[in-house]
Amino acid sequence: MGEYFGDILQRTLRRRDFLKTALWGAAGLAISSLEEKVALSLPAPSFATIYPNGEDKITLPAGFQYGLVIRWGDALDNGPHLDWNAVHEQVTAAMVERQKHCFGYNCDFVGYVEAPRGRRLLVVNHEYTNPELMFQGFEGRPNRWQAALQREAHGLSVVEIRPHQQGGWHYVQGSPYNRRITGSTPCQIGGPLQGHPLMCTQYDPQGRLVYGTLNNCAAGKTPWGTILTCEENFHSYFGGSEASLSGQVRELHKRYGVPSDRADRYGFYLYEKRFNLEKEPNESFRFGWVVEVDPLNPTQPPVKRTALGRFRHEAATTVIAPDGRVVVYMGDDARFEYIYKFVSQGQYNPRQREANWGLLDEGTLYVARFNENLGGEWLPIATIQGRKILPNPALPDPFQANPGLCLINSRGAADALGATKMDRPEDVEWNPVTKTVWAALTYNERRTASDRANPRSENVMGHVLEIAEAGGNPTAVRFQWQIPLLCGEPAAAVPHRQLLLYGQAVDKTVPAISAPDNFAFDARGNVWITTDGNPAPSRLQKNDGVYVLNPSGREFKMFLSGVPGCEICGPEFSSDYRTFFCAIQHPGEGAKSTAELPTRWPYDEKVVVPRPSVIAVWRPDGREISA
Ligand code: FEO
Ligand code: CA
Ligand code: CA
Ligand code: CA
Repeated sequence: MGEYFGDILQRTLRRRDFLKTALWGAAGLAISSLEEKVALSLPAPSFATIYPNGEDKITLPAGFQYGLVIRWGDALDNGPHLDWNAVHEQVTAAMVERQKHCFGYNCDFVGYVEAPRGRRLLVVNHEYTNPELMFQGFEGRPNRWQAALQREAHGLSVVEIRPHQQGGWHYVQGSPYNRRITGSTPCQIGGPLQGHPLMCTQYDPQGRLVYGTLNNCAAGKTPWGTILTCEENFHSYFGGSEASLSGQVRELHKRYGVPSDRADRYGFYLYEKRFNLEKEPNESFRFGWVVEVDPLNPTQPPVKRTALGRFRHEAATTVIAPDGRVVVYMGDDARFEYIYKFVSQGQYNPRQREANWGLLDEGTLYVARFNENLGGEWLPIATIQGRKILPNPALPDPFQANPGLCLINSRGAADALGATKMDRPEDVEWNPVTKTVWAALTYNERRTASDRANPRSENVMGHVLEIAEAGGNPTAVRFQWQIPLLCGEPAAAVPHRQLLLYGQAVDKTVPAISAPDNFAFDARGNVWITTDGNPAPSRLQKNDGVYVLNPSGREFKMFLSGVPGCEICGPEFSSDYRTFFCAIQHPGEGAKSTAELPTRWPYDEKVVVPRPSVIAVWRPDGREISA
């Protein structure tokens, strides 16, 4: 049995102690009553678990049904749908133009938003594209129109939805709320780095405007109803040689993986000089940000909020602190990268929505250090006041001399402060019922030296961390942590593949899980987890899915299994918790070409290629999903 097993067992058995330390000081509540309150409020969902499978269909527990809401290529305006079969054969300029008005590819984040007069919207990210599945005979480099169509299939969509009488939802073609933001939409640069020399390019010498947002993975909703969409693997689009770059610029790019060997498959740099490092060394500094989008105002340009730091942003999720400040939790999804949070300087104004636009331009950016004693600290990187960036005095000279580097090179600042290198931080999110922060560490098979927060060397399965901020206050600078879930299979032969729930081995009735990615929380505080990686040969070799963990009863079930090659993302509930939305991203991925697809989901008889889509799940009996 691996050394980590005993460690974890000791560490997670006593939830009472975990809550006790974490909630110590919470005003007016005895520890026992707090714990009771949490325990009482957490009934587990009643459905009978399903198990991971490899079938070419969406599997749900008995008593649930699903329907499509919107698919790649569905028109948001009143024009024709994208002809994806024609795209597959030969892309034209006219098709690129249509993609600008049609639902994008590889849907990731899904946000349910209530608009005035009872209207409902979904905001959906389009993370990346699969040219090998989109284009017939694709051989590693797209032609000009294929590259442009991919660029326009990125970004995000805002789309109005309406419920069907018989359950499920459909989207409203031509709604005035419908909007596409793509890899070419003008975005503003907001916050302290607006105008910074490294943010200036030939086409934008003022450092104020950038075309497009790219690789929008997950996101978060703000209390004032905007969306924080996150630029994750932005490096993938930048190509060309770094030989002509200055030493400093080359080093900064290197820390972020620029240029990327994935640039060829998108081909942007072959046809647009801003993506070619030799011609535009600074353009990639203008990606890797959290971007604020107002879904209720289609004329408001997206704004890149530079105070939130630059890294491969998975998501940015918010909570309001007791004193009204807004806290944003964020993960940098790469191996050995960090977990961050941002605490706003100003307070949320619930009476005047517009007053909160810009609230995330001032505050303090922190990075997490997880200590061996199960405690941890948020280490300040910099505080932003007005346009001024005040670096942590402990940071070395280059950050003091050029404080903008604290944000452009948040990774370098976190390195210098001795933050804890994590196993690919995905979603990091506040559970409003348990009042703790949940962090998905998806996997890191390259880890050789384990630490207590990343306890497995060669972590192929991933794990989930729970952070209890001191006093239950999200602005705290100290916390306790534990590991509720070490992913794997109940009956694994080797410890590093074994599923452990709160440090305990489980029997075979518990479903296997790997590669946790995104969270949603229901009204009872249950933690819904979507996965991205089950199919890998080193993991379960089964389809990705949706799972639910009940933190008080420590029950764990599987709710949904996707189709071959897809990941599941964007878990989201409608406000009445009677619908569960999620994205079926990249169905069929892994096939080298459309000639050998394992699925053509969603199986329209005319479909040559599978289509990434958003689905809704509901109970025909009308009860809440978690009932
Ligand atoms: Fe795009 Fe970290 O998943
Ligand atoms: Ca993700
Ligand atoms: Ca979420
Ligand atoms: Ca993912």
